[in-house]
Amino acid sequence: MSLNSIPVIAIDGPSASGKGTVAQIVAEKLGYHYLDSGALYRSVALAAYEQGIDSNAEQDVAKLVPRLSIKFQHGEIYLNDADVSEKIRTEQMGQGASKVAAHPLVRLALVDLQHSFRKAPGLVADGRDMATVIFPDAKTKIFLTASAEVRAERRYKQLLNKGLEANYQAILKELQDRDARDRQRTVAPLQQAQDACLLETGQLNIEQAVNKVLEAIAANQQ
Ligand code: CDP
Repeated sequence: MSLNSIPVIAIDGPSASGKGTVAQIVAEKLGYHYLDSGALYRSVALAAYEQGIDSNAEQDVAKLVPRLSIKFQHGEIYLNDADVSEKIRTEQMGQGASKVAAHPLVRLALVDLQHSFRKAPGLVADGRDMATVIFPDAKTKIFLTASAEVRAERRYKQLLNKGLEANYQAILKELQDRDARDRQRTVAPLQQAQDACLLETGQLNIEQAVNKVLEAIAANQQ
């Protein structure tokens, strides 16, 4: 099988839209590999932070990338052999990720690594630019979204369920800041690909969203 004949399902969308959970379930159901591209940017942000590199210093952050080993194993993420699965999920690393992700050199340094996830029998990739930049030939492209208020509410409940403190207004503000940065950057901004299906999840639970994605994939196979 040539590389380009390996099917890719690209799922893009804003923060807390549920795309990660949906993408993972779709990958499991299809028996496909899964790429959480946001985890790569979060890992780069964490590495920069730990090494005292300013996230605004494009050259320095980009130079760091080839020296990092980022691996996904059994659902955990390893940065230079340390399990960073929990550490990269903080809001601080989310904001840090969106800062390092705005640098063209950093994005370029992560392209080959992302392409390496394209393995038979197929890949489900989630992020911001999966359909537009990294896998423009993806077989199915989904843009999964919901209003900022719905997404903030979901994140708020998630935190409370984990027994953590949460402030709805602060979460909403952070989401809006990150959305704005992701949409307005000049390189690979968050946007719906022209040939992507829009999936608004405001009124859908995870199972219903998964079914919609599976329907879109099936429709593309006919
Ligand atoms: O989990 P959440 O949706 O909040 O974020 P994420 O998917 O883990 O991504 C964290 C940040 O990385 C985003 O805010 C984007 O700025 C950046 N990112 C990106 O630029 N391109 C991607 N393909 C994936 C993430």
